[in-house]
Amino acid sequence: MTDKFAFLQDQLRELENTSLLRRLRCIESVQGPVVRLEGDPAEKVLFCSNNYLNLAGDRRIIAAVTEAVRRYGYGAAASRLISGTMRPHVKVETVFARFFGTEAAILFPSGWTANEAVLKTIPQKGDIVLLDKFDHASIIDATRAGQAEFRTYRPDRLDRLEKLLADKKYNRRFIVTESIFSMDGNTADLKRLVDLKKAYDAILIVDEAHAIGCMGKTGAGLAHELGLLSEVDIIIAPLGKAIATTGGIVASNKTVIDYLVNKARPFIYTTAPSPVNCAAILTALEVVKTEPSRREKLAANAEYLRTRLSKLGLDTGNSTTHIIPVIIGPSKDTLRVSKELFARGFFIAAIRPPTVPAGSARLRISVQSDHTTEQLDALVNALKDTIKTSGR
Ligand SMILES: Cc1ncc(COP(=O)(O)O)c(C=O)c1O
Repeated sequence: MTDKFAFLQDQLRELENTSLLRRLRCIESVQGPVVRLEGDPAEKVLFCSNNYLNLAGDRRIIAAVTEAVRRYGYGAAASRLISGTMRPHVKVETVFARFFGTEAAILFPSGWTANEAVLKTIPQKGDIVLLDKFDHASIIDATRAGQAEFRTYRPDRLDRLEKLLADKKYNRRFIVTESIFSMDGNTADLKRLVDLKKAYDAILIVDEAHAIGCMGKTGAGLAHELGLLSEVDIIIAPLGKAIATTGGIVASNKTVIDYLVNKARPFIYTTAPSPVNCAAILTALEVVKTEPSRREKLAANAEYLRTRLSKLGLDTGNSTTHIIPVIIGPSKDTLRVSKELFARGFFIAAIRPPTVPAGSARLRISVQSDHTTEQLDALVNALKDTIKTSGR
């Protein structure tokens, strides 16, 4: 019998031949600055997790989850509009609306589904959606699947964005950007985007995935830090990074949220997230708000590491945040460096196309607030040796 899936095997082989095949790696321990991986007794210092504030294994979250599972059980067992809405969901939504100062908020099972829901549902036929070239795949895929036309702009060419905004043939104009770009660690020029949205009466949507918890006085993100929160029309806050849970918040006015509840298929036709996860979200958010020292330590660690890497002559792109790429270029070299670092005790995945543009494969180093100076120094030394021995 012929293998019905040979056509897929051929493509996987092609990925392998071009150093683009991905494999899963299994962590056996709690996620912290140090982890233990399957089949390897030696601990690795973790530099590729989004657990920026080290909340993934926080004892207060564990206690809240334990209490919630006793009180509510685990499963919500239905979609939100049927019988899946439980007190913890409502509480999360109320607390986040207050956190962002919006009229309302709604919880999705993930950041991906939050973006999918907003971008497939809100822009309508006759509208245009303007996407930053470096926007996350969830933003791009959702927009593609939606009703509106779309174009991309480069963040360093906002003059092009302005030209697109000036085109009068569309009913409405949407600008969609991440606040901290996930693969480069640079920030969007939110001030200029707000000016443009005002000048052209556009709707501004900001995905704060990598800024939530990490930026702003209370951890409410980059827009908050810049005093621009009230200018953002729809805030997307994925909760799987610094908040260290799962879920995605959409915060906006009541009309937008009511519309999503009624029309967004990724909300309507999926089982509600576990109420236990909501307890984790609420506790993590409380820690984020009340422990600004975590943000300060994260920023200090990032600054320290970036300065040391730049002094080595490594290409850290335009990073100004806790995400620091070391751009290597070819996928093959990047994989080799990642493997060598692994052998030396550091877990940093190689990020390759299509996640980043061709020829810009990289190590995406994500700093955590609990990394020690010794761990940062050890990484710099290992990189110095490894990139040299890799013939670069
Ligand atoms: C900018 C951005 N938006 C959305 C998502 C998706 O969020 P989630 O992982 O919660 O689905 C991610 C993460 O992968 C992201 O980096």
